[in-house]
Amino acid sequence: MTDVDRYGPWAVVLGGSEGVGASFAQQLADDGFDLVLVARRPDTLADAAARVRELGADVRTLSLDLTDPGAVDSLIDATADLEVGLLICNAGANSYGRHFLDGELDGFQGVIDLNITTPLALAHHYGRLMRERGRGGIVFVGSLAGYLGSARESIYGAAKAFTRIFAEGLWLELRGYGVDVVELVLGVTRTPAMERAGLDFDLPGLNVGEPDDIAREGLAHLADGPVWVAGGNDRIVEIRSRTDRAKLVLASHEAMRRLMPEK
Ligand SMILES: NC(=O)c1ccc[n+]([C@@H]2O[C@H](COP(=O)([O-])OP(=O)(O)OC[C@H]3O[C@@H](n4cnc5c(N)ncnc54)[C@H](OP(=O)(O)O)[C@@H]3O)[C@@H](O)[C@H]2O)c1
Repeated sequence: MTDVDRYGPWAVVLGGSEGVGASFAQQLADDGFDLVLVARRPDTLADAAARVRELGADVRTLSLDLTDPGAVDSLIDATADLEVGLLICNAGANSYGRHFLDGELDGFQGVIDLNITTPLALAHHYGRLMRERGRGGIVFVGSLAGYLGSARESIYGAAKAFTRIFAEGLWLELRGYGVDVVELVLGVTRTPAMERAGLDFDLPGLNVGEPDDIAREGLAHLADGPVWVAGGNDRIVEIRSRTDRAKLVLASHEAMRRLMPEK
């Protein structure tokens, strides 16, 4: 159960319309939180909002692209009258999978903005208010990809590595102020976005997380930052953190090719 007195009354969930984000929203609504849900597609967003309203939550939805330059100001304006005690930066799957030299910089910039620029600006805004109040929480949804370079995901993986290290520093800075910071590291998770991307969840030996389980684990460990590895993937993180980088990167590359064949 997530403590609404410590992390509420309002939670902002970036990418709260489906997958792990929608699971966060439902579980928080169950625990008495009110919610601001952000995503691009209005229909999916409205469906997610209806589900949490049924649980008794007050809900605001914002249909916007978090990579748009005005997105941060729009969200800040839309929440100016709310006490936001929990910020969950969940939206962030790789939106531009290309070999670096075959892609355009604008496309890669979108990955950086979704995973770094916008979450940083929002953590800066809501984090200051949380620090003043002496309570709150900030979650960055990370990835095992943030521990090792991958072809077609070099920018995505680097962005996830960035937020993980950033989360550690912010955790340290806010430790004395009652504000919890955690990078929640996900492995392969059965989200609609990954289903649409054609991920083969049935590969033998693959550890696949379910969105409800991952969200539950993340909420249970809000105070166990700076990094929480979800879904029992600690061993993979240990392996990916070794120093024999070429061997590790090549082995992971082979595994990725089986998981997500190049189209
Ligand atoms: N699924 C996995 O296997 C896996 C593995 C490791 C890490 N993760 C991490 O887990 C998080 C969630 O991933 P996911 O698989 O659910 O995919 P996702 O594409 O991040 O989608 C999650 C939510 O974000 C919204 N969203 C995506 N791009 C957006 C944008 N530009 N502006 C506003 N909202 C946006 C989506 O709604 P709209 O599409 O309507 O905008 C949806 O509500 C990500 O940070 C991802 O990196 C996932």
